[in-house]
Amino acid sequence: MTARDTVGLALVGIGGWGNNLARNLDGLRDARLRWICDVDERRLAAAARQYPEARTTRRLGDVLDDPEVDAVVVATPAPTHHALGKMVLRAGRDLYLEKPMVLDLAHGVELQRLAEAGGRVLMVGHLLEYHPVVIRLRDMIRAGELGTIHYISTQRLNLGTIREDENVLWSFAPHDVSSILFMLGQEPTDVAARGQSCIHKGVEDVAFMTMRFGDKSMAHVHVSWLDPHKTRKMTIVGSRRMAVFDDLESTEKLRIYDKGANVRTDYDGFAEYAGLRFGDILVPHIPFTEPLRVEVQHFVQCVRTRATPVSDGHDGLRVLRVLEAAERSLRNGGQPMQPLALPEPVTEPQPA
Ligand SMILES: NC(=O)c1ccc[n+]([C@@H]2O[C@H](COP(=O)([O-])OP(=O)(O)OC[C@H]3O[C@@H](n4cnc5c(N)ncnc54)[C@H](O)[C@@H]3O)[C@@H](O)[C@H]2O)c1
Repeated sequence: MTARDTVGLALVGIGGWGNNLARNLDGLRDARLRWICDVDERRLAAAARQYPEARTTRRLGDVLDDPEVDAVVVATPAPTHHALGKMVLRAGRDLYLEKPMVLDLAHGVELQRLAEAGGRVLMVGHLLEYHPVVIRLRDMIRAGELGTIHYISTQRLNLGTIREDENVLWSFAPHDVSSILFMLGQEPTDVAARGQSCIHKGVEDVAFMTMRFGDKSMAHVHVSWLDPHKTRKMTIVGSRRMAVFDDLESTEKLRIYDKGANVRTDYDGFAEYAGLRFGDILVPHIPFTEPLRVEVQHFVQCVRTRATPVSDGHDGLRVLRVLEAAERSLRNGGQPMQPLALPEPVTEPQPA
């Protein structure tokens, strides 16, 4: 990118989520939304009315022909991410890809290597890594305030868009997996998943996934788009404190419970018993900023300064490795699977 004060941006895909991205991209101080691209004429016409300063097109080629475009945000359905991402990186532009990064680990590796080889910024839309409550929990865990993390349990449920292109694990669980890895700073040693296809054959609408982190911690992720209640909840049970994050609460999203259990020995020293501790419940004040706004601001900042995003391509690959292992487990009756090692980069033979 040539040095400029204002980053030239394009958005590809202005459907349900793309509309949220457009609203946030349009209001950025250091960037200008120059193009909106979508294959759907009606959506483009609506976008042209709402964002008259942006040009519209059905062809990504038009966007990439514009030398004023520095970076492209892709919010199209997941099966298109690999091909579109490749076009953007090959055209020498920085890339923001919505989650799931891609639907195939090898495709993710290819995009990461293309970005590295071309010196491009590659960021994946792992929204929760920009959520102030998740950041606070990560800081508390790092500082040992919750003690040893025994387990994390998440629920991401609603009666909503039923996708056919990818199952609910690939669609919903990137949020849970990315935030759990972000908070723990670790990758799982094994992953197991079971699920049920209720609407479209072979596409799971509900899934239950577990991740083990060595022998000390584990996590459970329950995702469904076929549930009567919208739920966005995370419970963290530590040896010192417990925490509950409810993202549907408007103000008191996080509660810290000074509760726990300790093994004690009775005064004769013969018997051990679990002593329960019931202490205060704290609701920390956490200033709230829309995570999507923070996320797109961070992307533009990385484009301007050439910094590495928090949710960069490597982060995308860590999440893909978990999803790939979960998918293998789903197809094998829920057996625990180890995430695959990433293939070594192919070194091109050097001229003698
Ligand atoms: N971060 C989040 O919280 C979050 C939430 C919802 C969706 N998403 C992600 O955003 C992406 C889009 O999801 P959605 O719900 O908005 O889907 P959607 O179907 O509502 O919108 C997708 C749009 O992309 C367009 N499109 C399809 N193929 C295209 C192509 N080749 N070139 C240009 N445009 C094309 C479609 O016409 C449509 O307008 C998905 O990856 C999804 O997982 C992220």
